[in-house]
Amino acid sequence: MKNCRQRESATIQDANGHAYRMKCVFDKTGWRLTVYDDDLWVADANCVVGNNVVRIGNLEVFEEAKGGKRGLGRWLYSILNLRNDVKNYRKRGLGTALLKFIVSSAKERGMQMVEGSLSPVDLVPNPDLPDWYKRRGFTVEGGGEFGCGRVYLDLQTR
Ligand SMILES: CC(C)(COP(=O)(O)OP(=O)(O)OC[C@H]1O[C@@H](n2cnc3c(N)ncnc32)[C@H](O)[C@@H]1OP(=O)(O)O)[C@@H](O)C(=O)NCCC(=O)NCCS
Repeated sequence: MKNCRQRESATIQDANGHAYRMKCVFDKTGWRLTVYDDDLWVADANCVVGNNVVRIGNLEVFEEAKGGKRGLGRWLYSILNLRNDVKNYRKRGLGTALLKFIVSSAKERGMQMVEGSLSPVDLVPNPDLPDWYKRRGFTVEGGGEFGCGRVYLDLQTR
C-alpha cells in the first residue's frame, strides 16, 4: 500500500499565548514534529504509528535551544563555544501544547490510543515525569524512579 506522506505547518502556543511554528510530517508509519521560535529549534517529537496506536518515541522541549544565527555566525559561535544565546524553553507550557497536538492529531486520524514509555534515562533527571503525564489525563503503569514504565491515553473512552 502507498505510504502517503503529508507535510503540514501548524502553530502551537505556550501557557503565555506565545506562538510557535511547527513543521509536521505525517506518514503511515510515523510522525515527526519540529517546533521553532522564529529560527530557533526549541522542541521535537517523533511518534511511531501502527495498529491504530500512536507511540511517542521521544518528546522533548530543549533546555538549551541554541542558534538563531546562521552560516558563519553559527559556526563561529559553535567553535568558540559561546553560549550567551542559549535559551531554556521548558516550563512554559510548550510540552503540554505539543502533547495536546499529538493527542488531537491522533483523534483526527481515528487512532485508538496514544502511548509512551518511561525509561530511566528520562526518569532519573525528571522523576516527576509519570505525574506530569497523569496531570495530563494519561494512565501510568510502572515507572518508579529507576524502573521502566508505560503511559497511555485510551482515545476510545474519550
Ligand atoms: C517532559 C517535558 C517534555 C515537559 O516539557 P515542558 O515544556 O517543560 O512542560 P510544561 O511546561 O508543559 O509543563 C511543566 C510544568 O511547568 C509548568 N508551567 C508551564 N508554564 C508555566 C509558566 N508560564 N510559568 C511557570 N510554570 C509553568 C506547568 O504547569 C507544568 O507543571 P504541572 O505539570 O504541575 O502543570 C520536558 O521536561 C522534557 O523535554 N524532558 C526531557 C525529555 C523527556 O523526558 N521527555 C518525555 C519522554 S516520554
